[in-house]
Amino acid sequence: MKIAVLASGSGSNLQVLIDQLHRDENSGIEIAVVIGDRKKAYALTRARNAGVPTYSVDAKDFPNREAFDAEISRLIEVHDTEVIVLAGYMKLFQPPFVRKYRNRIINIHPSLLPAFPGAHAVPDTLKYGVKITGVTVHFVDEGIDTGPIIAQVPVRVLDDDDEESLHARIQVEEHRLYPQVIKWFAEGKLKVSGRKVIVKESA
Ligand code: GRF
Repeated sequence: MKIAVLASGSGSNLQVLIDQLHRDENSGIEIAVVIGDRKKAYALTRARNAGVPTYSVDAKDFPNREAFDAEISRLIEVHDTEVIVLAGYMKLFQPPFVRKYRNRIINIHPSLLPAFPGAHAVPDTLKYGVKITGVTVHFVDEGIDTGPIIAQVPVRVLDDDDEESLHARIQVEEHRLYPQVIKWFAEGKLKVSGRKVIVKESA
């Protein structure tokens, strides 16, 4: 299965997907393209180092967000990918893009959704004072972090946590969970029924 990865930042999740899936010939999963919306995203360097084709697409170069999404869609189709994996991608898609790839866009989020959606999940978690947070992997729908949840893992919030220490422990779980979920998708184990995603272990 060919996948496209979209990233805006450091790309530690991308690196795990490269190491555990792309480089493992037995996984049957190839990262066919990595697209970034910031030229300087370190994720693009990681992809280049792995020999994966990369593109940097800047929203400022397009008249509107639909046109920007259309360019991303074009690049994805050129590389013939079945699923779009968001790994720290910070832009929202417009509804036509989401409709086109319904249940084929997967995102990872550093909280237990529906708690703390949006771009500031970790500081929001600390501000609120919850004792348990975690990681959510979900399909993308038209809302902000509202799509059907595929998998979640809890992470304890410690009394002396700051943003950096908590995010670091969350990322340890992200790096375990994301490759697993992408494998489930590739193996046809994810069945979506309304808001529910069932993982069919025996599929
Ligand atoms: C992760 O914490 C992910 O949950 C969020 O953005 C961060 C990306 O980290 N969506 P990285 O670029 O993969 O290191």
